[in-house]
This record gives sequence, C-alpha cells and structure tokens, in this order.
Amino acid sequence: PEPGWTIEAEAVIVGSGIAGLSTALAYVRHAPGARAVLVTKDVLDTGSTRWAQGGIAAAIAPGDEPVAHMADTLEAGAGMCDPLAVHVLATEGPDALRRLIALGAEFDRTPGGELELTREGGHRADRIAHAGGDATGAEIERALIAAVRAEPRIEVIEHALALDALLGVTEDGSDDAVLGITLHVMGEGERDGVGAVRAPAVVLATGGVGQVYAATTNPAVSTGDGTALAARAGAVLADMEFVQFHPTVLWLGQESRGQQPLVSEAVRGEGAFLLDTAGRRIMEGVHELGDLAPRDVVASAIAAAMADTGADHVLLDARHFGEEKWRRRFPTILASCRAHGIDPVTEPIPVSPAAHYSSGGVRVDLAGRTSVRGLYAVGEAARTGVHGANRLASNSLLEALVFAERTAASIAAEPPAPARPATAEDGAEERRPGLVDPAVVPELRALMSRHVGVVRDREGLDEARRGLARLARAGSAEPGTEAWEAANLLTVAVLITAAARRRSESRGSHRRSDLPRTRPVSRRRPILLQLDEEGV
Ligand code: SIN
Repeated sequence: PEPGWTIEAEAVIVGSGIAGLSTALAYVRHAPGARAVLVTKDVLDTGSTRWAQGGIAAAIAPGDEPVAHMADTLEAGAGMCDPLAVHVLATEGPDALRRLIALGAEFDRTPGGELELTREGGHRADRIAHAGGDATGAEIERALIAAVRAEPRIEVIEHALALDALLGVTEDGSDDAVLGITLHVMGEGERDGVGAVRAPAVVLATGGVGQVYAATTNPAVSTGDGTALAARAGAVLADMEFVQFHPTVLWLGQESRGQQPLVSEAVRGEGAFLLDTAGRRIMEGVHELGDLAPRDVVASAIAAAMADTGADHVLLDARHFGEEKWRRRFPTILASCRAHGIDPVTEPIPVSPAAHYSSGGVRVDLAGRTSVRGLYAVGEAARTGVHGANRLASNSLLEALVFAERTAASIAAEPPAPARPATAEDGAEERRPGLVDPAVVPELRALMSRHVGVVRDREGLDEARRGLARLARAGSAEPGTEAWEAANLLTVAVLITAAARRRSESRGSHRRSDLPRTRPVSRRRPILLQLDEEGV
C-alpha cells in the first residue's frame, strides 16, 4: 500500500523490548544532534522482554571471569558459535549490565548490598542477576521505558506494525540499500493508516518467532515480523533451524495453545529436579551438570522420558523450597502455578518443553549490520553468532544490551551512505508477499509443532514443507494486521523448515531422530538462507 504520510529521522528502530529501547537510548547518546523514531506493534511493554524471568548473565562476581562465561557459552552453542562474537558478549557484558543499573534498573541484592547472583543450565558459576525474584524482564522494561519516555529526541509510535523496508540503491547504484520502512498504524490520530518513516538506518529489534508454534513462552506479538521483513528485503539469514525449546513450561494439557507460563530454569538453579511421571530422575547419568545441563540436552531428555512413559509431560519437583523461599525467590511462578490449580509447595509441577527462543535470525556483523546497506538487527531477531546451535540461559538479555550499544555506536559513527529510490535502470524489482489468510495460522502452528519441534526427521520435515506450500496457496486476504502477521509467520515457518531440512545431523537444539549423530568439525557451517522469487 502507498504511504499516506511520511516522517523523517536519522534512524528508525522497530521493536520495544530490551533490544529496541536500548538501541534508541544508545543512539541518541552517541549521536547527540540526531532524532530517532521507535515504532512498536502494540504498546511499549508487550514484547518478550517483560516475560523474562531468570535474569541476565554477566561475569560480574569476584572470582568469575569473562573467559569462563565465554567457555560455557561456546559449550552450550555446540560448536556453532562465532568465538569472536562470544568474546565480545562475555567481555563487554559486565559493563553493559552496569550501564543498565546506572539507568535505574533495580536488581535483587544480598543483605550486604552486592548483586544476588544465581545459576541456570549450562553455567558453571553463579552469574545470573535477577530482579523482583523472577520478574527480571518486567523491571528492565520499566527502567528502559522510563528512560525512553524522558528522552525528547526519541519519538515513539505505538500500535505501528512495520510492513516492509523501503528499498533503494546507494547513490552510485552499486548496491541495494534501505531508505526507511512502511508502517501500518492503528488508531493513532494523524498517524493512522499506512505511513512511512524515511531514515537511512533501519534497526530491526522485533524479537522472536515463537508464535509459529502451537505452544510457546512468547507473547502473541512474537510473529517474526522483523525476520520476515529482512528476508523480503533480501537480507541473509542464518541458523534458523536452531529454535530453542524451553524444557520447563507449565503443562496445561494437550489442547493448550499460544503463550504458556514459563517455569524459569533458575528454579532448577536453586535445586529443583526433574522426574518422569513414574517418579524416576530424568537427568541422572545424562550430563555431568545433571538438572543444570544446557537447555537442548534437558529438552531432549524430557522428550525421551515422555516417549518412554507415554505421558505428555514430566514433573519438576521443588517442594523442598518451602513456602517462604517460593514466595521470596519465585513469586511470579508461584502465582501462575496456583492460578492454574497447582501448588508447587506441596506437589511437583507438571511441565513440558515449548518453543522459546530463536538462536538464529538475520545475520549481522559485530556492529549489527545485515547484508543490506542501512538495515541492522539487534536482539533475538539478529544472528550475531553468540548463541550457535543453542543459546546459553540468560544470554539473550545480555546479547541485546551489548549489541544494541555497538549497533547504535556504529550508526552514529558511520551513518549508512546516502541512498536513493531504485529505478528500472538499476534493475529494481519489487518483492511483494501475498497477504495470507489468518484462518490458516492454527494449521501452520500445528504443522510446525508436529514436524519441526524438539525432535525432527526427514519425513516430517518434508510433510511440513508440503503443508506450508499448500497454506501459501490457500488464498489471499484483505490487508490488515492479522493478514500481515500471518504472511510473516508463513515466511518464518518456511525459513525454519528449509534450514532444518538442510542440516543433516543432530546438533544443539536441532535434533533429528533419523540422523542422531553430530557431524565432524568440517560440517560446522551455518546454514545461510536468502529469499528469492521461488522462496528459499
Ligand atoms: C528462564 O528463566 O528459564 C529463561 C531464561 C532464558 O531464556 O535465558
């Protein structure tokens, strides 16, 4: 659709979780004369960040070292991390956390006033800072939103779904470049309807893709909008097959759909343990870290235990914490269990894995640059290389902070070269996705959960591919938020399935029952994807 209005800025940031808010704040700090526009699909705090429970990892304790954090991150990533990116994450992490604290985020402290640090799966040290017990994300959002609201150089547009990048070319016509984005704004006065933000730098901080699955920890807004937008703009994506399933999501029955309550890994960090429904310890003898093994190891051990018992869930036992510890340390989880009729003080919690985090995404360098000039990505939407085949617990909030700072600094120091609209002479081609009928979304989610979930095989992946192709032909829909989101979900589902079909081994969070072995070192290449007219 043609934009009905246009605004100009030096940078437009899409998304309002920790990645988007931090990028906007860092950008105006690094570029004092500049103006940033921050757009978000709903209101500022509806993204995934505010649901984060466990915390934020950083080697900040006396006796802990970035090199130890780096080693744990590399191990969890199962040979697929970019060691340089991990080095950046671990060494710049402590300062990034300190900046967040200086900005006003209040973390839990010991009686002596030190940060209270806990442990989660895959970490060999206590290095997870948390807030409000298990409400870390909510506190981070509160602090960042207050800072953004107080910053006159950041214009916030809520209820604004980013549709597509405005594509152009560099002035000499030698390279593709973005000129801004088109938006669909819902009910915001003079900015209502389809409009555009023209800006030489577009930062995608749109978060994850969990809503392509039937059950996920992600909120309803996590429909992969930035990932799909980048793919349509021609950007390279990487590691899309590595969708992480959180091992312990409150099990609410077979028919539960959409966002499910998380039971933080920090509960196991504080001593809870997993049992199958026959009462046997699941993680004993599976990994030297037992119940605190990396997340992919725990999720697949749970899948095996469920296959063994025939049950559709397992149990997480933390009765020994007692009422007082539950109340103090995990008030959010306690409340959500009790709201669903489960009392973790007196009974084990039924849990099962659900889609949680996209370790891959839009491929970026250490300054957040994608393969398209002027287009950047930060946070879960980005693939920096820090997560490899399986993200280490509580590294996601940290990645967002560290790379938001770097991306903002790089845009300020080296703004993208001026670009102009492409002409026919430049070989301009328009890539317009058909809008997808939202009625197909439940079937899309069922296909992804059945065939592209914790454990995959060739037959199932082929079935998913055929099913997605059928849904793509199912007919178009009237323009509207749900149809645009459905198109994005379909694009992301196709990308994940294509990557999973191409990775012919089991590695990290990509488990193939037909190819259980992990291939030798020579196969540790990322799977890179780019959309063309035919798909991927
Ligand atoms: C959790 O609290 O278990 C989630 C933390 C994360 O996803 O890193």
